[in-house]
Amino acid sequence: MTVRQDTIWERFLSPVVRLLIDEEGLRRYFESVDWEKESSRFRRADVTVPPYYSSQNFHGIKDGYLKPGAAVSYDPITQYVLPPTETIVRQAIIDSIKVQPRRILDLGCGTGSTTLMLKQAFPQAEVIGLDLSPYMLVRASHKAEKTGLDINWRHGDAQKTGFPDASFDLVTASLLFHETPTTVAVAILQECFRLLVTGGQVLILDGNQNTLRQLDWLNNVFEEPYIREYAAGSVDAWMGEAGFQAVQTQDVWWINQVTSGVKPILSEDGTVRTDVRRYTSVQRDDTVDNEDLQGFPSPAFDTMP
Ligand SMILES: C[S@@+](CC[C@H](N)C(=O)[O-])C[C@H]1O[C@@H](n2cnc3c(N)ncnc32)[C@H](O)[C@@H]1O
Repeated sequence: MTVRQDTIWERFLSPVVRLLIDEEGLRRYFESVDWEKESSRFRRADVTVPPYYSSQNFHGIKDGYLKPGAAVSYDPITQYVLPPTETIVRQAIIDSIKVQPRRILDLGCGTGSTTLMLKQAFPQAEVIGLDLSPYMLVRASHKAEKTGLDINWRHGDAQKTGFPDASFDLVTASLLFHETPTTVAVAILQECFRLLVTGGQVLILDGNQNTLRQLDWLNNVFEEPYIREYAAGSVDAWMGEAGFQAVQTQDVWWINQVTSGVKPILSEDGTVRTDVRRYTSVQRDDTVDNEDLQGFPSPAFDTMP
């Protein structure tokens, strides 16, 4: 596939961003890293790259994220495309966390910007960032080292992570779903459901699907092969399809949205129990009530008052 030169991004925005970013500094960083050697620390032989990922360009970069250049250019560009600011948009996912997580998995973590914020918000939690691109993981690991944050980086496909059932209290994904076909987004949510403990929470931060539908021209700005398919769909519906309950989407400054879902507690007959527990709000109550969580080893819930 050839790189399109006719997007609004290529014609107008990219030259402006080029003026703003320190290209010389990026070139020095790029050349200072032995990308093949460093990425071999993360590369796993059992990871199969799905065709939707390897067959497309993302953001006009040939071979998408499977090139070290993508890992170097990602942050300098992303800071200008998340209004009002990148930190405010990413903070929306942190502010939506209702559980007290012991283990957090950030899917499609990329260069780790959200993963780092998760670890900063929950320093006691074990935090894992997973991505299909070993080069993105190299960049993420450099950022974590620089900030002194202990995060595990893992090469893998978010559809099939290989982690055991019920091994996380919180699973997140930021800016991942607009880069996947719908079938993949649903498969990732099914994997989130499997990975979460009962009462665990999933949070998806991404482009606002209502806004993207209304402003179709926006979908031409960047080279994003699946963004129209994403805009036409509904993360709420996909979460419901995967089995999540209490699904809610909130706008994040109109351009983005964050969707939350909970893995429900089931009765023995398979029906959802709504009478027993509710979230322990992190802000409201810092204590963890594990008293009657037999069979549900989640710190996420306390008993109803
Ligand atoms: C737009 S970037 C978002 C990165 C990061 N989460 C952020 O908020 O900046 C999308 C990332 O998802 C990764 N990705 C896409 N499909 C994936 C999959 N099936 N499994 C794991 N990572 C995937 C890409 O390699 C890329 O790093």
